[in-house]
Formats: sequence, structure tokens, C-alpha cells
Amino acid sequence: MQEFIITGGHRLSGELTLQGSKNSSLPIMAAALLGGGETVLKNCPELTDVYSASRILNCLGCKCRISDGIAVIDPDGAEGSEIPETLMREMRSSIMFMGAILGRTGECTVSIPGGCELGPRPIDMHLAALKKMGADISDKGGRIHCRINGGRAHGARITLPFPSVGATENIILCAVTADGETIVNNAAREPEICDLCRFLRVRGADIKGDGGSSIVIKGVEELHGCEYSIMPDRIAGATYLSMTAAAGGEMILKNACTAETEPFLTVLEQTGCTICTGENRIYLRSSGRLKAVRERIRTMPHPGFPTDAQAVLMAALIRADGTSVFEENIFDCRYRHTAALIKMGADIEVMGKVAVVRGVTQLHGADVEATDLRGGAAMAAAALSAEGTTHLRGIAHIDRGYEKFEEAVRSLGGDIRRV
Ligand code: UD1
Repeated sequence: MQEFIITGGHRLSGELTLQGSKNSSLPIMAAALLGGGETVLKNCPELTDVYSASRILNCLGCKCRISDGIAVIDPDGAEGSEIPETLMREMRSSIMFMGAILGRTGECTVSIPGGCELGPRPIDMHLAALKKMGADISDKGGRIHCRINGGRAHGARITLPFPSVGATENIILCAVTADGETIVNNAAREPEICDLCRFLRVRGADIKGDGGSSIVIKGVEELHGCEYSIMPDRIAGATYLSMTAAAGGEMILKNACTAETEPFLTVLEQTGCTICTGENRIYLRSSGRLKAVRERIRTMPHPGFPTDAQAVLMAALIRADGTSVFEENIFDCRYRHTAALIKMGADIEVMGKVAVVRGVTQLHGADVEATDLRGGAAMAAAALSAEGTTHLRGIAHIDRGYEKFEEAVRSLGGDIRRV
């Protein structure tokens, strides 16, 4: 089992070019399964989750290869409709392939990814929407079979009870080659959904309204191949900015999506950091002595404060002057990182969906274990601003979402080693 050894207490400074977005790459890779022609994806991050998506594509009969940040996906001849349980378990987002497989073959067999990372993550909205589009769905021993009579889904008017990112993406993937028009009301508005829609439009899809809460998809007969560049990863960006804010120093984030990162930046700015944005660049300077955020930090669907940035911002606020309060409104179980932060000297009290972070003057290194992807990154951020050395285990979680994490941190002057 690998671990990171991190020695904190150094200011961070430098320039960092941001990786492509994990949460865009996965649905876009699923979307490459639809229609015909080769997809060439640039700025594709080399992450374990992306390799899992590639294995799923290959298992379905696609030819997918990834090297040097470019994924080449050729769906011609992909007739598979089943994802084996072992592949489903590798990555929670494997459920995203449902809509695309249904769109391609009219049937699919998948399983619910097991385990609890952020609390229960049901797929009831996905299934209800696909049913409305004509799928018969049965569940036998945890394997879910979906079948569309006649092989082609039909358009439907779907109102989501909550703007779920994954359900919105699955509906789009199934609707894009369906018969007729699909309207998704209360759709998720995350930038990665717009990236998926942009990609599909380049391939010939007819989609309007993404980025708003009502998306209209008119099914088309054909999609063709294309070359596409995946958007930058706003959450990885938020992570490296939080790290520098916590440790003190200055950095320039290049290839950044400034507008999409704004809901995070407006909160980070309240800590007293200097932040300037230019075209595709974010500059941050921090004295290392942050102020607490006075307003309650409520995670909300986009354009609210992103749940994926909650843990990393918390890591920055542990040593802030004063008390900050978080309210986690998206997932039930998203404070599992706090136990490790407390072990490092943080003063955090969790009460249901609220976490109260009382600033302390000093953190110290400790032996800790990553609980999930963003929680693990938060532990690394805290370790970089702590006195002494931290041993961080469970780093497979971090590798799921951060490309060459230790190289990125080292390029900012952080003392981190993988052993
Ligand atoms: C996606 C992101 C994840 C991010 C999350 C919220 C990817 C690969 N992952 O996850 O990084 O944290 O959006 O921004 O893009 N829910 C149901 N029933 C459903 C679907 C969802 O109850 O059928 C609930 C979930 O349990 C959760 C909430 O809705 O409490 C939001 O989930 P959702 O937006 O679907 O998140 P994901 O797509 O899983």
C-alpha cells in the first residue's frame, strides 16, 4: 500500500497548469460510445477513474486507448451491453454508462456500485427517468437489467425531484439519439454538464438549455466522430488554491476555468487572500494567516458552493482566525475527513449536516488515512500547513481524481513523497 509522506510548514509558490476535469471526462467517455466515428479527447486527465472508464468501454467492444493526455475512442462494432460487477465496483460513476449503453443497444445490464463513501448514493432518479423514456427495468440479485421495447428510447418530459448531476447526464446520454424530444426540468446546472453537451453538439446532437434548469434534447439519428478538449478541473483548482491559502505563499493557476470556479473563489476571498482572475488564469496570494469565513458555507447545487470543495476549504480554515461554519446539503456522510484533521490538531465539531471549525494556531503532523477522494486531498492540504511530518495512507482515493498529485504539489514547493 502506497502512502504520502508530507512535511509541512513551507510556504508554497509557483505556477501550475490545471489538469482536465475528472467529472467531465467520465460522462464524455460514456458519450463517445454513442453513434459512430472516432472521438479524440484532448486534456484527458490520467486518473485511475479515467482508466476504469476506459476498461468499461473496451469491455463493451469499443477500442479505447489513452496516452499523453489524449484518449482515442472508436465505438464502431461496440455491441456489448453488460458491465461486469468487478468493473462496476471499480468506480462509482460507472452508473453513468447506463444511458449511453441504452442509447446504443436498447438494453443494458449493470449493478449498483456497492460501499459507502459519501453516504447512500441511490440511483432512483436515474431509473425513474429511464423508465419514462421507455425502459423496462428489473433488479435480480443486485444486477439491474434495462430493456427498451423496439430498441430505441423515446423522448419524455422529466422533472427531477433534485438536480442530480449523474441523473441529468444519464438522461442526456439516453435522449440524444432517442425518438423525439426530451425535456429535463430541474436539471443540474454544473459546468461539467455543459461540457458534456458541448461535446455532444460537436458530434451532431441537438441540445439546448444546458447551464440552465431546463434542458431540451431533440433526438437525432446519427452522431459522428470529433476532436474535443475537455474543460479544466475546477475542483482540482480549488484544491491547489486552498493548499496555498493554508500554507501561505502565492501561485498562478494556468488553464483554469475562472467563471466556473467563481462560487468557490467568492468564499475563499473572504479569508483575506488576494485573488485575481484573468483569461484562464487565477492568481492567489496568502499570508498564511487566514480569517474565518463569517457567513455559513452552505454546499448547494451549482452555482452554489460546490460540495466537492467543502473538505479542501475546511483544511484551509482550520488555522484561520475565528470560527467558520459549514453546512453540507448534498451528501449525508461528507465529514469523514474531520477525524483525521482533528488528529492533526484541528478543533472541529460535527453536528449532523453542520461542522463548526474553530481556528487553532498550529497543526501537527500525524498518521492518517484518506477516507475518500476530496477528504484525502484535504488531509494533504492540512499536512502541508502543519508542523512536522504526516504519513497519509489510502492514497488510492487521491489518485482517482488528481493527476500526478505529488508532482503538482512539489512544483509549488511542497515537501511530499510517495513511498
Ligand atoms: C456528481 C459528481 C460528484 C459531486 C456530485 C454533486 C461526478 C462523477 N461526480 O456525483 O463529484 O460531488 O455530483 O455535485 O460527476 N441522489 C438520489 N437519487 C439519485 C441520484 C442522486 O437520491 O437517483 C442524491 C445523492 O445521494 C446525493 C444527491 O442526490 O445526495 C446529489 O447527487 P448527484 O448530483 O447525483 O451526484 P453524483 O452524480 O453522484
